[in-house]
Amino acid sequence: MSAAQKCRLAVLISGRGSNLQALLDQAASGELPVTIAAVISNRPGVQGLERARQAGVPALELDHKNYPDRPAFEAALIELIDRQQPNLVILAGFMRVLTADFTEHYRGRLLNIHPSLLPKFRGLHTHERAIAAGETEHGATIHFVTAELDGGPVIVQARVPVLPDDNPDTLAARVLTQEHRLYPQAIRWFAEGRLRLEGEQVRFDGQPLMQPLRLEDFANPTEARR
Ligand code: GAR
Repeated sequence: MSAAQKCRLAVLISGRGSNLQALLDQAASGELPVTIAAVISNRPGVQGLERARQAGVPALELDHKNYPDRPAFEAALIELIDRQQPNLVILAGFMRVLTADFTEHYRGRLLNIHPSLLPKFRGLHTHERAIAAGETEHGATIHFVTAELDGGPVIVQARVPVLPDDNPDTLAARVLTQEHRLYPQAIRWFAEGRLRLEGEQVRFDGQPLMQPLRLEDFANPTEARR
């Protein structure tokens, strides 16, 4: 990818697509130096597909229910993604477990957002579980995807407080606001060539990342780009 060529994204979704919307908006405004080549949903008719259409981005459906098993679905998904020739594949609320064949195919160019401060609360119902555990801090994580569910090398996290009167919905809303800042930042770093995966090691500006980056340290995106 030369500087003149924008990083091409394929964005995988399963539903609402609010994280997708943040990417569409920042790509349209030029804040995010990417081309969103296609949005692919494993669930037909979801809101995120409509968001893509509204933005003039190809909105593709690949219903996992039409395939006999996971490997057959993933083989079709890989074919569809690769036809878009993406530099980076983005999981944005894509709610299917992926096999090692899939994650290895995209190793180092597959990112996920997870609504917790990993390694805490892998899996589902993260907000409910954070409240039940008495956490005072919660958040979201961007990580490179490997075969281990929600276990790949962590890149950057955004933190929010858990307030005494929070319920899972109020906490989810607070985290989501941060998610919409967090994913564009990580993708910008990748597009600018500042972020890569070497073996199991994340490298940021060429240096091994010994702990997750914190979004609050990059409050001003212009500053972070220097
Ligand atoms: C987001 O909160 C994302 O972090 C979460 O699903 C939501 C999708 O919302 N992802 C996962 O739980 C992945 N394990 P959106 O469709 O509005 O972007």
